[in-house]
Amino acid sequence: MSVEFLRNLWYFATPSRALRNKQLVHKLLLGEPVVLGRTETGEPFALRDLCPHRAVPLSAGRVVEGTIECPYHGWRFKPSGQCAAIPSLVGEEGVDPSKIHVRRYPLVERNGLIWIYMAQDPVTDTNPVIDVPELPIAADAMPRMIEAQLFPCEIDHAVMGLMDPAHGPFVHKVWWWRSAKSIHAKAKKYAPIPRGFTMVSHKPSSNSLLYNVLGGDVSTEISFELPSVRVEHIKAGKHEVVGLTTCTPITEQQTEVTQTFYWTMNWVAPFKPIFRQAALTFLNQDREMVALQAQGLKFNPRLMLIQDADVPAMWYHRLKKEWTASRSEGRQFVNPVPETTLHWRS
Ligand code: FES
Ligand SMILES: [Fe+2]
Repeated sequence: MSVEFLRNLWYFATPSRALRNKQLVHKLLLGEPVVLGRTETGEPFALRDLCPHRAVPLSAGRVVEGTIECPYHGWRFKPSGQCAAIPSLVGEEGVDPSKIHVRRYPLVERNGLIWIYMAQDPVTDTNPVIDVPELPIAADAMPRMIEAQLFPCEIDHAVMGLMDPAHGPFVHKVWWWRSAKSIHAKAKKYAPIPRGFTMVSHKPSSNSLLYNVLGGDVSTEISFELPSVRVEHIKAGKHEVVGLTTCTPITEQQTEVTQTFYWTMNWVAPFKPIFRQAALTFLNQDREMVALQAQGLKFNPRLMLIQDADVPAMWYHRLKKEWTASRSEGRQFVNPVPETTLHWRS
């Protein structure tokens, strides 16, 4: 069964720091070969990583005079994708290099992250109609920590794992978080946001030791937006922590899950190795579970979604369906998520 990726949306591509001036980085995104890089002036760009002449990956070439030069016959491409030079031409062939293009992907660099717009149609959809996900942080805030893991699963299972409240006490059983014994009934209010939903700001569970470390009056709001952007915004007294989790499809069966953290407290610096370890532990636990799940999915079984713990996963499927339908019918997206309260034990 082939996986349909959502299009005309922004996906997290890579941390800003992964792109250095004049370096070229190859990355598979939604199954497509992409070359990411920066020009001499620091401008990031992304092109299809495939020379239109004879398919050599442009990432094997170099950045020279503001262009990307293919290593095979030296064709040069502007960051816009337009061919700038074909060295073998003597000038009498009637070949106009400027008529040759390699696919360009729109990029936005913001708060230390690079987002890529994966259009449905490379020719007609190149101007994004929506903005990159808005993070509740200062315009100049930079990530304090970024951790990425490759999950051996298709995008949907990675995303459903992200929004699934019921696995916490079983998968994330570590003494500083919570135990299976600490399960209790919860009621959480949800509301729709432009392309997703939010678990309205609330006091986090008293069984989450990690939140208690922050001190002060702690509140947290967790939102999800298509295609696969989860933002947890924690307020503790005058301080704030923002955790961004993104799922980017690499191939149909591989998804890169990246956690990026921003925080305002400077006292955290000496504890950063501990936080990094905690974030890695969580990601590893989730990754191991989807790897285990993959063993069962091989048999293509029917799956279940139950009330109320799986309702966010049901919303995810409805959001996807509506996004795809609204795009193909050329109409406004109508958010199918209701304002409601969900109940479960976790
Ligand atoms: S294959 Fe790239 S220039 Fe020929
Ligand atoms: Fe998890």
